[in-house]
Amino acid sequence: MKAIRESYARMLGRSRETVGRHAVRKLAVASMFIVTFLTPAASYAAVDVVRAKLLASKNACLGCHAVSMKLVGPSYKEVAAKYKGTEPAKLADSIKAGGSGKWGQLEMPPQPNLSDADAKLLAEWVLNGSPDK
Ligand code: HEC
Repeated sequence: MKAIRESYARMLGRSRETVGRHAVRKLAVASMFIVTFLTPAASYAAVDVVRAKLLASKNACLGCHAVSMKLVGPSYKEVAAKYKGTEPAKLADSIKAGGSGKWGQLEMPPQPNLSDADAKLLAEWVLNGSPDK
């Protein structure tokens, strides 16, 4: 109890300047917290989910892929797990090229009508775990 009272007295006795510096340090810690814990959420927000989902249904991706279940092609969750940390541009290339043999014998048709930007957006969406919104 005495210790608490003493530290309280010390706190109250601090000059304005120290308190100010203390507040700055607190702010620095708080922003570190934000960077550490909120950045993944921010990167989800950076993917235009609405457009990604629209592209996926417009280009018949969802006829062969589901988010959490294998259909003709692997589920997007499996793809995200396998390529964790991969550059979206690299996965975008393999979306455009199609192919077979990586997941089984079935073939994914090439996607010549998909622009590079759209393929990249789809790749980002998949790599981010195919968020629904
Ligand atoms: C006709 C069915 C079909 C369609 C349509 C289709 N896919 Fe696929 N997809 C597959 C199959 C099958 C594989 C597995 C190919 C393999 O084993 O290499 C695959 C693989 C993938 C992969 C993993 C590629 C890799 O390098 O491992 C991604 C990502 C993917 N598809 C995304 C898409 C997107 C996005 C679309 C729409 C633009 C799409 N697919 C349309 C059947 C399809």
